[in-house]
Amino acid sequence: MTERCQVAIIGAGPAGLALGHMLHLQGIDSVILERQSESHVRSRVRAGVLEQTTVDLLTDIGVAERLRREALVHNGFYLRFDRTTHHLDFHRHSGRHAYVYGQAEVVADLIDARKATGRPLIFDADDVTIADIDTDRPVVEYTDVDGRRRRIEAEAVAGCDGSHGVSRTMMPSDTRILVRSHPFAWLGILAHTRPVTEEGMYSAHPDGLSVHSMRGPRLSRQYLQVPAETDLDAWTDERIWRELRRRSQSDDHPPLETGEIIEKSLAPLRSVVTDRMQTGSLYLLGDAAHIVPPTGAKGLNLAISDACALSYALGRRHRTGDRSALTSYTDTVLPRIWQAQSFSWRLTSVLHRFGEDPYDWELRRARLTRWTQSPSEQQALGEVYLGLPFPTPWRFDG
Ligand code: APR
Ligand code: PHB
Repeated sequence: MTERCQVAIIGAGPAGLALGHMLHLQGIDSVILERQSESHVRSRVRAGVLEQTTVDLLTDIGVAERLRREALVHNGFYLRFDRTTHHLDFHRHSGRHAYVYGQAEVVADLIDARKATGRPLIFDADDVTIADIDTDRPVVEYTDVDGRRRRIEAEAVAGCDGSHGVSRTMMPSDTRILVRSHPFAWLGILAHTRPVTEEGMYSAHPDGLSVHSMRGPRLSRQYLQVPAETDLDAWTDERIWRELRRRSQSDDHPPLETGEIIEKSLAPLRSVVTDRMQTGSLYLLGDAAHIVPPTGAKGLNLAISDACALSYALGRRHRTGDRSALTSYTDTVLPRIWQAQSFSWRLTSVLHRFGEDPYDWELRRARLTRWTQSPSEQQALGEVYLGLPFPTPWRFDG
């Protein structure tokens, strides 16, 4: 049996769920197919810093009620080096904020909103395949939780299935994928401890970065720069705390509080941009098309920004038949993606240890000093940290 819908969305991460909701609000139907179970998707621990731009969008589409109640509202972040702590106040320059609210919470709110619309959101969808993308009737097939093969005929396919998904494999072989690998990873923990500062902190130590973020007054999220080939099992809780404490030592704050670690993970640092994000009736969004290193926490925000642009383009075609915004989707979204790449790379290169060379540390220290001393440097950093404008509105109102 063949089902029909306007847009088949593959992947129920922030990109797919946000797109589905924006389409719904424009009267466009979609089916969202997700490989994992609902509980898996709801409980995945990821980064959790939202730009003001993202929060404004989520508010606009009516999914920010809990976020507005529960998110921690920050003016900027702390930088620590040479045992001294500095606050970068971006709010002062712009009146805008960053919001600390875990990606899992954003995803949970979007799943709840989707369910309230009654539109299909199918978990445990196995073996998703995409065909006929060079036509206006692309076909997506999958195996449902009962083992039955299902077929969906759509007008467009949105590939929101992340960096290991099926969508990106459908791009033509001459698509350029620009990659920069970094020789380290982030070892992340979630712990029942009080955060060391009231806003997130990057601690740049000659031996490597440590990041001290939070999810609540008694829940901290912290990261350590470790070599790329690190074995997580070699890092006992005691060793993690010792290293976090060592790298974050200061003369102006008490030492880091230690406590129960409830989650531990390892994330490699990579920068990737697919410089063509569409082919025929298939469009790539979020991690399916680009990856930023976690430094600066841009990943989720970029996924929402792509969803906004595709929602607008599909809305425009739906309302007027005009395909021009769909045709130019890649060109519309790439400049903002490169701004985020540039920002993440800048933060990554200043905050991490790259090698033994003492010249390297002095250079990084000089840059860190500028960031703490120069209002214009802070203003420039803050513009991107709190979110550049999205490339288009999410709704076509013409
Ligand atoms: N079929 C169906 N679903 C799939 C498939 C597949 N073949 N492959 C992957 N998926 C699902 C994943 O299980 C996941 O739920 O697609 C979803 C992709 O979601 P994300 O990885 O969260 O990607 P995206 O929505 O682009 O959001 C980017 O997520 O990984 C973080 O740091 C990243 O913050 C960024 C954000
Ligand atoms: C987080 O809170 O998970 C976080 C904070 C800052 C980053 C990345 C992630 O740069």
